[in-house]
Amino acid sequence: MAQQDSTVLERNCVLPQVADRTALRAYKILRTRLLQRLAAQQWRSVAVTSTKAGEGKTLTSINLAVALSQEPNTRVCLVDLDLQRPQVAAHMGLSCGPGLGDYLLGEAEALQVMYGCGSQNLIVIPNTRTFDNSSEMLSGARMLELLRVITAEMPSHLVIFDLPPLTSDDVLTFAPRVDGVLLVVAEGRTERTALTKAKELIGEMNLLGVVLNCSAERDDRNSYY
Ligand SMILES: Nc1ncnc2c1ncn2[C@@H]1O[C@H](COP(=O)(O)OP(=O)(O)O)[C@@H](O)[C@H]1O
Ligand SMILES: [Mg+2]
Repeated sequence: MAQQDSTVLERNCVLPQVADRTALRAYKILRTRLLQRLAAQQWRSVAVTSTKAGEGKTLTSINLAVALSQEPNTRVCLVDLDLQRPQVAAHMGLSCGPGLGDYLLGEAEALQVMYGCGSQNLIVIPNTRTFDNSSEMLSGARMLELLRVITAEMPSHLVIFDLPPLTSDDVLTFAPRVDGVLLVVAEGRTERTALTKAKELIGEMNLLGVVLNCSAERDDRNSYY
């Protein structure tokens, strides 16, 4: 089990330390819609992305993973796959040992970078190291081996991958390895032209849904279509 600092969770609006009832309700709706869509296709892995940095990919990935893990009979593995700006551990107030970057560099084994987090139903693979050649790392042999171990060790877990934005080729590189993609759109921040481009890039992938983050309307703070 990794150690977690609950004041960090509260400051970062990370579940379960979220008091805002509107936000809680929105995450539950997001969780349930996603569960239904995954079950309908017998899918189990999801990549979370957006058009640029700071739109809420990491916060959405974490809160979705925690909300899913709170559902009875649902187990989740959350993987920090943003090798350019890894932030899952920081947002979750996690202090732990080796992470994904150490594994990718051959300095840790797969089982050493999987941490139980908060409940038995949530495993996190955190990262603190950044890589200039991130897309090559994502398509490399170590990464393929990690996916194999995740499937072998956690055959019934849903797997959420927090990815970089669509501005690099990381998502294109990794998309064939996941069942579906969730696109985070930040109201007032995501530009229309970037969205049009995103639609083209995502064209060949299975788009599971669009999450509207930072909505000005209280009842829509975190909506899902
Ligand atoms: N709906 C939200 N409510 C409050 N803070 C948010 C919300 N969405 C994002 N943030 C904050 O905005 C910053 C960027 O979010 P993050 O999830 O790290 O974005 P990304 O992963 O897309 O770069 C973080 O500090 C995060 O806590
Ligand atoms: Mg992020």
